[in-house]
Amino acid sequence: MANAHPPAAFLDAVRPLRAAFPEAPSPYRLPLTTNTFGDAEIAAALEALVRGPMTLGPRVAAFEAAFAAAHDAPDAVFCNSGSSANLLAMAVLARPQGPDAGPALQPGDEVVVPAVTWSTTLWPVAQVGCVPVLADVDPATLNVTVASIERALSPRTRAVFLAHILGNPAPIQEIADLCRQRGLILVEDVCESLDADVDGKRCGTFGRMGTFSFYFSHHICTVEGGMVVCQDAADGDRLRIQRAHGWTRNLPAPSKAAWESRYPDVDPRFLFVDSGYNLRPTDLQAAIGLVQLERRHAFLASRRRAAARWMAARDRHPAVFLPMRVAPGSSHFALPLVLQPGLHRAELAAFLERHGVENRPLVAGNLARQPALQHVTHRIAGPLVGADVVHDRAMYVGIHPGLAEADIEYLCEVLDRFAAAALAGTGAGDAHAPGPGLGVWAVAT
Ligand SMILES: Cc1ncc(COP(=O)(O)O)c(C=O)c1O
Repeated sequence: MANAHPPAAFLDAVRPLRAAFPEAPSPYRLPLTTNTFGDAEIAAALEALVRGPMTLGPRVAAFEAAFAAAHDAPDAVFCNSGSSANLLAMAVLARPQGPDAGPALQPGDEVVVPAVTWSTTLWPVAQVGCVPVLADVDPATLNVTVASIERALSPRTRAVFLAHILGNPAPIQEIADLCRQRGLILVEDVCESLDADVDGKRCGTFGRMGTFSFYFSHHICTVEGGMVVCQDAADGDRLRIQRAHGWTRNLPAPSKAAWESRYPDVDPRFLFVDSGYNLRPTDLQAAIGLVQLERRHAFLASRRRAAARWMAARDRHPAVFLPMRVAPGSSHFALPLVLQPGLHRAELAAFLERHGVENRPLVAGNLARQPALQHVTHRIAGPLVGADVVHDRAMYVGIHPGLAEADIEYLCEVLDRFAAAALAGTGAGDAHAPGPGLGVWAVAT
């Protein structure tokens, strides 16, 4: 069984290389994120490369099993990105639910999505022929609410695909109850919120499936990578069929045998039982993921420590920054900064840049205002007032485990300075040369 501890020989090979080739420094005093890979991640990837197999091998199976166990879920299916995880989840619902059953989602069915989320929460809904319906968000939590979802429902609604934004859990228990009452399928996009929980229950386990991203800036990183956690082993099979070509090769032995017995005239090595994609991950990614998964509690503790200080610094200035409501189970992907009316996001962004603080708009803003929506059949559920606040007045600054005490203190000072400048009406504030950069590739422990 593959595990998170590469043999010493690989560690010995990696250490001198890392010493000889130091990482490039970031141009930012506070980059959005830093590389968390230690020697063990690189040694594990190297081992996969040297010893093989390199794709859908034992490390992928071990990473899936460890991830499912961490979520108290019967199964988890690894793929090559969070966007692919979203596509797989929607594809599974839109494909036949068994050899003799129709799809759970039919073309033209409506699926409620948040108006504020990443683009690839919404695209897969349209890509499988369904109609995304944009529900408003609360700018104080950045998430959809029970009321905004209720407003988005119609007789054509079949599913809710919500996202937990920036690590902050949505009111998921109430939304799960609503879905149960209305007979709706619930899928959670947890790409920004690994390890967020509500009363100890992990986000991603409240509905039929939960999706995760292991992209560079996320809670754990496999360079690129994604996971779908599911509550029904049959969905695990469907996800694996969709993930690789529509074939049965990667199914657990009993399901594989069941399919093969239905089609004795087809060579089981190339037995295609549905349409599908190639969204396969590699064993290199899984090897890295196994190490990162073991380190995630330490990562989360660091994120929470920085988040507590930065939220307090932000909330010292309620005339400048909108008060936020963050659930105790947040896993703090980033620090949201939502300006009060009359203050300008561009000024905040420019101020942060001048002070060496890398920043981003709050994911895709109000998705209804993105030009791509012209090309996607969708419905907008009432005025997107909260989403417009996020679109016009919100930014975020990265939280990551590589933040030192001085970095945490530095942003507190920058926020104080911005608030003073904004209140004095000199919004842009003074120019300030950023200090020496953190290594963007620096090892974070
Ligand atoms: C909410 C959400 N969903 C999906 C994704 C897509 O993940 P990936 O970049 O791994 O494709 C992201 C990416 O950041 C995200 O924030």
